[in-house]
Amino acid sequence: MLLQQIAQRYTQLFQAPNVLVQAPGRINIIGEHTDYNLGWVLPAAIDKYIYFALGKKETTQFEFYSPQFDEHIQFDIKDEVETMPSWGKYLLAAAQELQKRGHQIAGAAGVLSGDIPVGAGLSSSAALCCGFVYGMKELYSLDLSRKEIALIAQATEHRIGLNCGLMDQYASLFGAENSALLLDCKSLETQRIPLELGDYELYIINSNVKHELAADSGYNERRASCERVVTLAQQQDATIESLRDISMDRLEELTDELVVKDYKRARYVLHENERVLDASAALRKGDLKALGKLLQASHKGMREEYQITVPEIDLLVALAISNPEILGSRMMGGGFGGCTINIVEKANAQRILSKIKAAYQLETGLKAEIYQVKAGAGVQVVRL
Ligand code: GLA
Repeated sequence: MLLQQIAQRYTQLFQAPNVLVQAPGRINIIGEHTDYNLGWVLPAAIDKYIYFALGKKETTQFEFYSPQFDEHIQFDIKDEVETMPSWGKYLLAAAQELQKRGHQIAGAAGVLSGDIPVGAGLSSSAALCCGFVYGMKELYSLDLSRKEIALIAQATEHRIGLNCGLMDQYASLFGAENSALLLDCKSLETQRIPLELGDYELYIINSNVKHELAADSGYNERRASCERVVTLAQQQDATIESLRDISMDRLEELTDELVVKDYKRARYVLHENERVLDASAALRKGDLKALGKLLQASHKGMREEYQITVPEIDLLVALAISNPEILGSRMMGGGFGGCTINIVEKANAQRILSKIKAAYQLETGLKAEIYQVKAGAGVQVVRL
């Protein structure tokens, strides 16, 4: 439906589009803040997308319209990223990244819209960047692999101010139906892990506490903590490149020289990496109870050690796990708001989720939103 609308809108504003692209958001089963520490993550692309109708331009001008926000954005590739409003920043920075890497592009016209909630931890910005760059590749027949598109999209985020890893971009580009993606962020190797949940389903609960990670120093500050630990460890062993190369034993040896905050954050990352591998094994065996316990441990680590949760999110998790029909619940994404991911028994899902929603509203005055999500395919060209 949305796709049809944006294609029609494009035709009204410009002419017929050259290409239609859909780019998914992502969930993350487990593995939070492990990507930029070159560890493992277990995300999946979801069946929520940003859709693009795109056409070439002969000049270096870009002209985009979003019916979702009723915003028109125009820029030249030479413009300053900082002067652009909201989502225009990402498009301009991504176009400049393409050019910087030697890709021959001119401008583009586009209409885009989607159903990925913004600022909720479902990676709408990765979908925006990956979808746009993929669309540019199609328009200008660029020689670009999905890996290169992920790196360009990541560089775009860095340019805007978020020193993120590659999880979101990889999930959006490499996602596959009914599968999670086990990504080794060091080698960038991926494995598909079947997401077969039997009597259970995944539900996302949006706390509606919005976060803007790029503007919030909390995310980058966590990354800086991890880097301080690595710098210290390198004084003992110059071959260490990231927390991935540090064992628990070595971290213990460094304890006296680290501030408690950095030590705890690094410990969380080391344990979270183990949990990702354990969760992949549990999913392969169909052991959902074990998976649920890992989700709980992940949330506890994020709350107590990495300290990236907020009271509203902790409340949603506490409300969720007070029900035996929910096997696991944890905050998902960069933190400081956003969503929780929950493994909920199908038969009782509606009743329990309504109960959680009501209790959450009573206590916080906020309305939670609930989405059932399915793992879907990565960025692709679509037809009407
Ligand atoms: C954001 C970042 C990712 C990742 C997660 C936390 O989504 O964009 O790279 O670090 O936070 O796991």
